[in-house]
Amino acid sequence: MSLGKSNSNYSKLAMLFHWGFVILFAYGVTKQVEDLNQLDDFDFFKFEITFAFIFLFLLTIRFIYMKRTQSSSLPPETPKVQKIAAKFVHNSMYVLLSATVLSGLLIGLLYWLEFKDGIIINSIIIIHELVINILYLFIGIHIIAATYHRFKKDGVWSSMVPILKEKIKN
Ligand code: HEM
Ligand code: HEM
Repeated sequence: MSLGKSNSNYSKLAMLFHWGFVILFAYGVTKQVEDLNQLDDFDFFKFEITFAFIFLFLLTIRFIYMKRTQSSSLPPETPKVQKIAAKFVHNSMYVLLSATVLSGLLIGLLYWLEFKDGIIINSIIIIHELVINILYLFIGIHIIAATYHRFKKDGVWSSMVPILKEKIKN
């Protein structure tokens, strides 16, 4: 018996990016702005903006690295529609993560420009919250899909998840 089927598929850096972002995103959500007036605290404001820029920078590096060097662990015989669905969910998560940060930065910019109330900033806040909720939905679908592959024991789970690896016969 050996552990994991295709766990060499993703590089160590790819796994670091994936799991590092899970932590970074969870951190971003837990310390979220709960009330617009919190942005009056300049240290808090500076921290939010700095965090958002670091997040966006690392996300860009991750995206370029993943697209240039890595590919999905789906077995070659996977139906085309399933391959397209996986790609769609993965790409959508990149789009939604970027849109979360960009809409957050736009809120910050408007606030800094003294648009502290009114239809413009409130619309962007609604968009920011909507994007985040759609992102939660995609993350949910992604985790369900990963769990499905764990049951299928096709190596997809073990290629990215360092725990509960599939046991296969040599
Ligand atoms: C914030 C939460 C998460 C996000 C945004 C996310 C995003 C992604 C993305 C974009 C990929 C494609 C590879 C890449 O570009 O890095 C991926 C792959 C993968 N993720 Fe996640 N992920 C999250 C959480 C999880 C969790 C909790 C699990 C497992 C329980 C998981 C399991 C996997 C697996 C197995 C793959 C490989 C899929 C394949 O090779 O086709 N992910 N993830
Ligand atoms: C990685 C970056 C960010 C993450 C993960 C994030 C996350 C969140 C989350 C989870 C919410 C609550 C959504 C809901 O209740 O449905 C929220 C709301 C909000 N965020 Fe962000 N955010 C980010 C960046 C920013 C930035 C840079 C700003 C502005 C400087 C900002 C300003 C706000 C505001 C004003 C709200 C609404 C608060 C209210 O309910 O009054 N966010 N954010």
